[in-house]
Amino acid sequence: MRLMAFRNLSEPGGPEFSEAQVKALAATYEIADAEVEGGVRPGVAADRWPSPFATEQDARDANGGALPPDLSVIAKARTTTQPFPWWILNYFTAYSEGGPDYIHALLTGYADPAPAGAEVPDGMYYNAAFPGHAIAMSPPLQDDLLTYETAADGASVPPTVDQYSRDVSAFLMWIAEPHLVDRKETGFKVMAFLFLFTVILYLVKRRLWAKVEH
Ligand code: HEM
Repeated sequence: MRLMAFRNLSEPGGPEFSEAQVKALAATYEIADAEVEGGVRPGVAADRWPSPFATEQDARDANGGALPPDLSVIAKARTTTQPFPWWILNYFTAYSEGGPDYIHALLTGYADPAPAGAEVPDGMYYNAAFPGHAIAMSPPLQDDLLTYETAADGASVPPTVDQYSRDVSAFLMWIAEPHLVDRKETGFKVMAFLFLFTVILYLVKRRLWAKVEH
């Protein structure tokens, strides 16, 4: 998450943490800083999310040679693959959730044992959504990892991999494009204005030319 600063978590549209929550969370991380004594200091709200691995080689060594991608914009970098001609329909339905749908499918797509006929090399895991179906990432989520608060009206959210994956993919979409809703709202207003302006211009033109024979 190297593009995300802790303070982004308090922005509208995201998790909307309070300033105190952001500061408390940031302080639980150690940030490498050559300018302080000892070379590390507790995180502050303006710091970027630190990588769990010191170097790219450390990351590969811990993951059987595969490099875990930075997840900051992964929701925009990936999408679902649909065979021809189905993807053409997306132009008509304005489907644009391919990234989060892929992440959800990836996180819920593990199968152990792998289906008959699937070849999974040692140290890899079968995943139905990953291209080639053999992924170096072990399943990162399990049921009952954490529980959700029950709402005042008694409604509860199931503590399942499916539910966690929905939340994680929604979060990754937001962090990949935090201003998406604003952008679309502004786009809608601009289009509405241009439409009205066109109508007004047309009426003005008719009026101006009404008395001219042509
Ligand atoms: C909920 C937490 C996580 C999410 C949402 C997540 C998501 C992803 C995504 C979207 C990919 C890219 C797949 C692609 O290229 O299409 C990936 C790859 C990978 N992830 Fe994760 N990941 C998570 C946790 C972890 C953890 C804890 C590790 C291990 C430290 C890890 C290690 C890897 C590795 C090694 C790859 C590359 C796989 C390969 O190329 O075979 N991930 N992850």
